[in-house]
Amino acid sequence: MFTTAPIKSRSTEPPIDLFEAVESLKKELNAIVLAHYYQEPDIQDVADYIGDSLGLSQKAASTDADVIVFAGVHFMAETAKILNPQKLVLLPDLNAGCSLADSCPPEAFAQFKAAHPDHVVVSYINCTAAIKAMSDIICTSSNAVKIVEQIPKDQPIIFAPDQNLGRYVMAQTGRELLLWQGSCIVHETFSEKKIVQLQMEYPDAEVIAHPECEQPVLNKAHFIGSTTALLKYVQHSEREQFIVVTESGIIHQMEKQEPNKLFIPAPPLNNCSCNECPHMRLNTLEKLYLAMKNQQPQITLPEDIRSAALRPIQRMLEMSA
Ligand code: 13P
Ligand code: SF4
Repeated sequence: MFTTAPIKSRSTEPPIDLFEAVESLKKELNAIVLAHYYQEPDIQDVADYIGDSLGLSQKAASTDADVIVFAGVHFMAETAKILNPQKLVLLPDLNAGCSLADSCPPEAFAQFKAAHPDHVVVSYINCTAAIKAMSDIICTSSNAVKIVEQIPKDQPIIFAPDQNLGRYVMAQTGRELLLWQGSCIVHETFSEKKIVQLQMEYPDAEVIAHPECEQPVLNKAHFIGSTTALLKYVQHSEREQFIVVTESGIIHQMEKQEPNKLFIPAPPLNNCSCNECPHMRLNTLEKLYLAMKNQQPQITLPEDIRSAALRPIQRMLEMSA
């Protein structure tokens, strides 16, 4: 069970209630706290908005707050900064990176792109600003199919950096995509064998999965979607039990919204019973409070990269409206 008791900071003297302290800093700074579903439950509970990557970008694009506190990973906070160069964007832990973004180094991608000059580049938002700056359109897991479907059929496409999402989009659209061979360490390590064992244990449970998973795991899924789509699915489904094949943080919202349903986290290949993103989980409520209090660490990026990265993000926002 997740705790809802006040969280006292151990590193402040005297100890303070972090929930209260964050609320008061929000008012003082005119700040908004945006959190991804993969954040720890305490952070989700203090956030003004919780969402998937698309929802978070849309919220970052529309907020009138002066300060955006981004409880997510670096590429997400960076996207908020690209959209809001004049605002202060804070990330509780600057080391909160992403294995998928790291799997696409800019120099290697520039060569790959140069070798295929007739292709348009559709990049998954889970990439660095440098990759976004080399892209024509950004997409997320919730709009990738919709975006590829809007590109003329005879137009060759490079899809980067997630090969698993790319293969899923190929299957959904019937389009051939030239895939960059990146992947997410969290979604790649779900064990198909352990999911089958859980299905034997819970024969009435439906398997729901994120499209960043590998094909053998997706083959077991009754429903595939972004984190927001998975959350909506469990709310509308008549089923009572779900084996959830994505980062286990999403289960906090599922349990809050459907307290009478059972959510079973799918296990990875190691001995753990659920799969947490080591990057996302670097953020803590205490670090979030300290980031607001000290107005550090801030996201900064060179203006030429920012303005080049803005164009494909704006195209995504237009194409997903
Ligand atoms: P969504 O937020 O699009 O569901 O993607 C999940 C993810 O891996 C974010 O890092
Ligand atoms: Fe990156 Fe995967 Fe973590 Fe998402 S879950 S932030 S894609 S490593």
